[in-house]
Amino acid sequence: MAGSSRGIRVPRARGEAVRKALVERGLFDRGRKISSDGSFVYLPVLSLEGEAFSAIKMISDLEPVEAPFEAEKPIVTPESILGYKPSYEVVGDIAIVEPVRPKGAQMEAEALLSAERHLRAILIPASDVEGEFRTRRFHHLAGERRTSTIHRENGLRLKLDLEKVYFSPRLATERLRIAEQVYPGQTVLDMFAGVGPFALLLAKRGARVMAIDKNPYAICYLLENAALNKIQGVEALEGDAALLAQRFEGQAYHVIMNLPHSASGFLPSAMRATREGGIVHYYTFAPEDDLYRDWDTIEKAAYEIGVRVEALYQGIVRSYAPRVYNVVLDFSVVKR
Ligand SMILES: C[S@@+](CC[C@H](N)C(=O)[O-])C[C@H]1O[C@@H](n2cnc3c(N)ncnc32)[C@H](O)[C@@H]1O
Repeated sequence: MAGSSRGIRVPRARGEAVRKALVERGLFDRGRKISSDGSFVYLPVLSLEGEAFSAIKMISDLEPVEAPFEAEKPIVTPESILGYKPSYEVVGDIAIVEPVRPKGAQMEAEALLSAERHLRAILIPASDVEGEFRTRRFHHLAGERRTSTIHRENGLRLKLDLEKVYFSPRLATERLRIAEQVYPGQTVLDMFAGVGPFALLLAKRGARVMAIDKNPYAICYLLENAALNKIQGVEALEGDAALLAQRFEGQAYHVIMNLPHSASGFLPSAMRATREGGIVHYYTFAPEDDLYRDWDTIEKAAYEIGVRVEALYQGIVRSYAPRVYNVVLDFSVVKR
């Protein structure tokens, strides 16, 4: 194929700059490999005729060459294997499949395993997120038989077992939003800390973090993750947040309440733990036609314990179910 061998010869020192210029002008042939000899690199281009030729000449007065540019391996994706896009979430090296086609789960798992090289195990949920600890059971579909992994997020390595603790990679951006508001030396209370994705990120930024969780596995992983990431400044407390938060009355600059299905019951404890002007980050689930309905609940809880709240922010964190969203409401607590 004559077209398959078209390229230009460039002195090695200028290779990368010319490659970028070709890419920017849509002239670089991504289907073929770059090759090189001692002092030159050979860049494959889509055409050497007409306007393309003039454009290449404008980038640099380079020598067109006819050389055998080896074809890149075709990119294999789960979609190219299946003929449709599978739906899945990745935690570390494990994929959790939400089958798109009835009876498609096994095929989707095999396609994921062969196309996505970093995946080692493919699971399918065998239950909803349930119980006080918000955990799920899984069936194994393909790859290694395990539910534990190390997930990388916001520069942290988080070790966890998907069946023993709650974890969602879809909150990564939200965790960064909170981290940007927290300053070194500030005291933060993470009332429902899980394996520590909020707590460790904030401690890494220099905050002094009190991290509570009732699930003993979550606390074990949180401590292990603190060590894994060489993070100090986190105190992990196992038990009920409503009780343990009492120890920090009036101390917290920020209180994180990430227990969306039942956070409202913990509002008095969170508000008491907050210092004057401190901020509560409150997460809940809400229907799309009344996303921020919990402001009423928040104001009522404040009134009952004799404080005031000032709304600072409201936003959607992620979709949760059809027409239901996970939302966040940030407010400051005024005690005077
Ligand atoms: C939705 S998860 C959030 C975990 C973590 N913040 C994250 O982003 O991955 C809620 C956590 O609250 C914990 N939990 C539930 N009820 C609790 C309570 N009364 N006191 C303390 N922790 C509780 C669960 O074990 C679970 O780890």
